[in-house]
Order: sequence, then structure tokens, then C-alpha cells
Amino acid sequence: MRLTGMQYGAQDIVLFELQPKSGEILPPVTAGAHLDLFLPTGLTRQYSLLTTLCDGQRYVVGVKRDELGRGGSRWLHDSARIGQMLEVSAPRNLFGIEPGDEPVLLLAGGIGITPLYSMLKSLQDSGRQVHLHYWCRSPDHALFVKELEGCADVTLHYSEIPGAAVLAFSEVVNRAGPTTQIYCCGPQRMISELEALSPMCGAQRIHVERFQAEQPVATSREAFTVVLARSGREVEVPAGETILQVLLDAGEDVMYSCEQGICGACEVKVVDGTPIHCDSVLPADEHTRRRTMMICCSSSASNRLVLDI
Ligand code: FES
Repeated sequence: MRLTGMQYGAQDIVLFELQPKSGEILPPVTAGAHLDLFLPTGLTRQYSLLTTLCDGQRYVVGVKRDELGRGGSRWLHDSARIGQMLEVSAPRNLFGIEPGDEPVLLLAGGIGITPLYSMLKSLQDSGRQVHLHYWCRSPDHALFVKELEGCADVTLHYSEIPGAAVLAFSEVVNRAGPTTQIYCCGPQRMISELEALSPMCGAQRIHVERFQAEQPVATSREAFTVVLARSGREVEVPAGETILQVLLDAGEDVMYSCEQGICGACEVKVVDGTPIHCDSVLPADEHTRRRTMMICCSSSASNRLVLDI
């Protein structure tokens, strides 16, 4: 896709507009979806789509410059140029709104607002009861601040404004009703706090999207064999290595992105064997139902693992 626009969103946040190079119509996107951007530096990064700004001609993502990140946002902020071509994945949605009529509580921290703003608009349009709480440093740091300030379905919490009323995160979560569906996107400490509170708050279901892994990638303690079902090729995964790394070293062309078990790009079908799931994308029972695993971080409890690769 061609980078066709860069627009100031808030302090340290830029909105990047991408259009297909040959004018084809883009597939529709739903709130919570993201794109993988394959950057010229070799990094692949995921960014949530701002679906209210997307249509058949353009996709828009919001990117916060992260000084401490792996360099994807720094490259986009400092080096990307309008007119440049970027390789982009098809949109994927691992954080979609579950259908139903229960009330929805949206909890955003910092740049975690990007998927949740799209969800807010989508839920408002459908008439479902929703409330967004957005924690950020100040109005200057808040994306879509003009649209959100004064909106009855939104509470903004500014941590750096003296005298601003900042409700404690735990207080907001504990007020959730028993049927409320909670969606949270923000820094790891926010998600950890939500997960710690969830057994007490009684909310019906919690959905989270992470920017970083909960824990370091787990490697296997014992060697095992991976069989690639499509070619019949067998590769040994030594103790201490990941399936993904071994397959890449063996010259296999496999999809991956975050290498931390948070994006879902490396999900593959399990034909036979018993995986040990270590990702943060899907719960283990969901993997069992889908018969899939994330090969960047998960390993095997069986000596042989047959994968649909
Ligand atoms: S590469 Fe992101 S979950 Fe495996």
C-alpha cells in the first residue's frame, strides 16, 4: 500500500493513512482489527485500525512514538515519507466485539485508545450500552480529545492535570455490573491489574489486547520433533529454542510478527501432538477448540508435533 497521509493525532501520536497502490477496493474492517506493517528495517509491527476513518479506499492506523520500543514506531515517525510503498498484511481481528446485548465497559490506557475508540463508535451506532474510561497524561496526549470531551458515554482521566478528578482503575472495574463485558487495551500494568481484579468484580467476560508479552517467551525444556504435514519434512527443536526460530533457520517460509505471543500472526493448525500454549492471544481452551498453536512461543508436551505447514 502507499502511504498517502500523515496527520498529527495527539502529542507523540501520528495517524498514518494507507491506500492500495492500484486503486482496488479494500476489504471492510471491524472495530478491534489491526494491520501488520512490514517495515523496510525488517521489523513487522501491528497497529490497530481506526475504523471510523477507514473505508474501501483507505486504512488509517494511529502510532505512538515509543522511545523504548524495538524501533517500529520510531521509524514510522522519523523516516516514513508520504508516497512511500509499505508492505501490509490483510486486516485481522483478534479483539472484536462479541455479539450480544450486555453492557460494555471499555478501558483504555494511552495509545490503547486506538481499538477502543473504534469500538465505542461501533457500539454507539448499534445502540448498545457502552462507557469508555480513558486514562492518559493530559488533553494534549489524548487522541480524539475533541470528540471525546463532553461525550456522556466517556470519562477521561488526566494524570498530569493538577486537580483533575482521576478515578482509580480498580474503582471503575469494581463498579462493573455482573453482566458487563469488559474490553481493555493499555500498558501491561493496567492489564495485570484488571486480571487480578476480575475474579472479584463479577464482570461476565474480560477481553484484553496487549502491547507487550506478559512474560518472556518460554522455550522448551526438552527437545522434540516438528513434522511439517504438507511436505513431510521433520525438524528437531532443541531444548531452549522456539519452533519458529528453528523453522526460520531451516529456511521455512512461515508467518510471524511479534515473536512474543501477543499478535497471533504465527498461529498454525496442529494436526497431531500435544502443544503447550504460552501465548497471550487466546486462552488454551480456545486453541484446543481451534486446534491451533502459536509457534513463536509455545512448545510441545509430546515428542512429535505435526503441524499444518
Ligand atoms: S509472532 Fe506474534 S504471536 Fe507469534
